This record gives sequence, structure tokens and C-alpha cells, in this order.
Amino acid sequence: MNIVLLGPPGAGKGTQSKRLAERLGVPHISTGDLLRKNVTEGTGLGREAKSYMDKGLLVPDELVTRMLTGRFEQKDVRSGFILDGYPRNTAQAKTLEGILSGPGLDIDMAVYLDTSEEVIVQRLSGRLVCSKCGANYHSTNMPPKKEMVCDACSAALYQRADDKEETIRRRLEVYNNESAPVIDYYSAKGILKRLAADGEAMAVLDKIIDLVREEDDSFKIQK
Ligand code: AP5
Repeated sequence: MNIVLLGPPGAGKGTQSKRLAERLGVPHISTGDLLRKNVTEGTGLGREAKSYMDKGLLVPDELVTRMLTGRFEQKDVRSGFILDGYPRNTAQAKTLEGILSGPGLDIDMAVYLDTSEEVIVQRLSGRLVCSKCGANYHSTNMPPKKEMVCDACSAALYQRADDKEETIRRRLEVYNNESAPVIDYYSAKGILKRLAADGEAMAVLDKIIDLVREEDDSFKIQK
């Protein structure tokens, strides 16, 4: 099944996409993670993207699309995928259809994680990320066993540069102005599922899995 997760910064797209991808046995594709990898590796694309990301602005469509097109040329996407962070405007939604039409794929379901602003700010201001494997934690909601150390690979945790209060505010503005219309885009296609996502992470995941089962009850879901 090919699923897009939508929602504002801090809605839990990354957290839920990772868990859902594991349960469904399909790849998790995050444009934010791919961009951060390019920044860390100092690629040309990463150097160009960094100035936008640090300001909380969208990276130009052309750069992100080039990066994503390369990812969809890999064969693992043929058995399904969870896409997180893309599309972020209606132009990207149309571009995505073009990218997917090459290997004969389509989006089956777009899940919108509906989250309140109060929850978003609390989540983003406490987010911690592993510098090696990218695992996601939260200082109070989902703390690591050992302070600032990743449970999975023991590498150091860090706070994302764009999780500063002023940048969070800018990202929310950008989301409301540019990304929110994507919800209507998928609603008009009849594949949008809205889900209240302020609750605890496992409860939200269970609700997403129920939606997957409603869509296709023959789909194999790991425990
Ligand atoms: P990106 O990395 O995609 O960031 P984002 O959309 O702003 O989303 P976040 O990663 O901040 O939030 P999330 O919804 O994934 O929440 P998470 O699961 O981490 O993009 C970053 C930047 O890259 C953009 O600003 C832009 O510059 C650029 N970019 C990326 N894609 C682009 C594109 N397509 N076009 C142009 N530019 C692009 O959760 C947040 C925290 O809350 C974590 O600490 C987590 O542990 C905790 N948490 C999550 N769920 C729960 C829960 N249910 N209960 C309690 N805590 C929770």
C-alpha cells in the first residue's frame, strides 16, 4: 500500500511513518531526513537546501523533486511505501503523480494527522534526534533510557536546528499558507483520511493501522 502522511510540523509524521513502515514491511521515505542527510554529507544539494531549512522555509520544489525522483527509481518502493514530508504544496502533489506514473504507482491513501498548536509546540521544543540512526525521542514524552544517548545505537542525541522557538513559528506559518491546501487536494481525490493525533503515539499508530485494515484487509501487518 502507498501511503502519504500529512500534517503540520510536530504532528508525528516521522514518528508514525517509521513505526508504520516497520509494521507493513515497506520503506519509509522522508524528504526531511533525505535533506538532512545531504546537509550532513555536505553535498551540493545539501548546501543549497540548508539556508532554507535553517530559516524554516520550504526548499525549492526543483531541488526536492530531483532528490525524490532518485529515491523512487529504487526497486524497494514497488511493494509499497510510506511517504512523509512530501507533497508540501499542490505543485508537489501533481509532481508526485508524475514521478509515480513512471513505475506505474499511485497514492492509495493520504492520512492527515490533525494536531493542536499547543501540542505541536510542546512536541517540537522537546524533540531529540539520534545523530547516527535518526531515531526520534522527546525529552519528556518519549525520553531515551540514558540522557542524550540513543537507545538503539548509543550515539549522541541532538536538538534539530529548526526546532528553535522562532523557527517553529515560521514553519507553522509556512505550513498554514503553503501545505494545508494539500489536504483539500487529496480530499477531492477521495483518498483523504483525517485522524485526531494529539493522543499518545501508540494509540495514534493503532488508529492508522485500523485505517489500513479498512482499506485492504488482506494486507499483512506485523505485530
Ligand atoms: P521535515 O523534517 O519534514 O519537518 P516537518 O514537516 O516540519 O515535520 P517534523 O519533522 O518537524 O515533525 P513530524 O510531524 O515528523 O513530528 P515527529 O514525528 O518528529 O522538514 C524539515 C525541513 O526540510 C522543512 O522545514 C523544509 O525546509 C525542508 N523540507 C522537507 N520536505 C520538503 C519538501 N517536500 N519541500 C520543500 N522543503 C522540504 O514528532 C515531533 C516530536 O514529538 C518528537 O520528539 C516525537 O518524539 C514527539 N511525538 C510524536 N508523536 C507523539 C505523540 N503521539 N505523543 C507524544 N509525543 C509525540
